[in-house]
Amino acid sequence: MMKAAQITHYKQAIPAITQVPIPSIGPHDVLVKVVTASINPIDLKTQAGGLKMLLTYRMPLTLGSDLAGIVVKTGAQVTRFKVGAAVYGRVQKKRIGTFAEYIAVTQNDLALKPKKLSFAEAAALPLVSLTSYQALHDILRLQPGQKVLIQGGAGGIGTIAIQIAKMLGAYVATTASPKNFDLVRDLGADQVIDYHTTPFQSVLQDYDAVFDTRGGQTLRDAFQIVKPGGQIVSISDVPTGRFARTYGLPLWKQLVLQFATRRVTALAKRTQATYTFLFMRPDGQQLATLTPLFENGTLKPIIDRVVPFDDLSTALRYARAGHATGKIIIQIATDQEMAGRL
Ligand SMILES: NC(=O)c1ccc[n+]([C@@H]2O[C@H](COP(=O)([O-])OP(=O)(O)OC[C@H]3O[C@@H](n4cnc5c(N)ncnc54)[C@H](OP(=O)(O)O)[C@@H]3O)[C@@H](O)[C@H]2O)c1
Repeated sequence: MMKAAQITHYKQAIPAITQVPIPSIGPHDVLVKVVTASINPIDLKTQAGGLKMLLTYRMPLTLGSDLAGIVVKTGAQVTRFKVGAAVYGRVQKKRIGTFAEYIAVTQNDLALKPKKLSFAEAAALPLVSLTSYQALHDILRLQPGQKVLIQGGAGGIGTIAIQIAKMLGAYVATTASPKNFDLVRDLGADQVIDYHTTPFQSVLQDYDAVFDTRGGQTLRDAFQIVKPGGQIVSISDVPTGRFARTYGLPLWKQLVLQFATRRVTALAKRTQATYTFLFMRPDGQQLATLTPLFENGTLKPIIDRVVPFDDLSTALRYARAGHATGKIIIQIATDQEMAGRL
């Protein structure tokens, strides 16, 4: 048996840490002893039932999307990892559950943990770095000298997105609170806007790209700053009808989402901008291509706090307030406990 943080129904305020069986593994899975996990807003949205258009889960459900840990068992077809390997990754959306002592994960979701990073640092990276890389590199294809606005520079996404955009050679503007100005400048931001006092559209213009992490009016305002032919990627607004088609949602959901996003679609047309909604893809191979950048310090994790597993509900409440600086890490096994096991 193992400890796992589960909900039995959507909108359950606090997941209960309960004893459940250690999961069994399929031929392409590994069983990972979770050392650290990190909180992402998707965990809170899942808990609240806010993703039901895209994902439905059977209850009880163990929460958690990101992990760093040790492989303790491998399926018959597993080729990439051996027992004892230290790994990290963002697990499949339909197979979440990293807020637990063990999880069965397909080998394709994992990469070897960067050796120079602690387990806490490693767990801070998979979901936010894959999301940011898929937005800034794969979709926006940022080129040296291009101007990009990254909303929410001090958040889990923003702190890594700024670094990736700078690595790609872009000029980076970001929004943050004054208490985080030094941090986002240290990460490479060229221009920082206090979102409490200054509408970004009053100071930025002719941008090549916007990485929107807020959605709603903030996303709609972004169309005022992109130049014709510019691009906007949102990870926080309502998914578009086009996304729903490519994601394979039924026709009625495609139509609902197409209707819900008609204003944004019209704005994109009017401003001659390309608009894309991104729902990030877990990808162990892509994470492995980023690993050397974590090893050599080009990209570094920013951690707000590390919280023991038993204090998960306090940590989730803190995350829900929406003002963490970087990532919140859940310590599930201590490094010493792991050292004793190996
Ligand atoms: N679609 C996808 O695949 C995907 C993937 C990852 C994340 N997301 C979404 O992306 C969003 C951001 O994720 P995250 O991990 O960065 O969240 P987060 O870490 O919880 O974001 C917290 C940060 O947001 C800042 N913030 C709050 N309100 C702001 C505003 N109005 N303008 C600018 N900054 C503001 C806060 O700064 P202050 O403390 O200064 O207020 C804080 O630093 C979430 O909605 C999440 O669900 C989507």
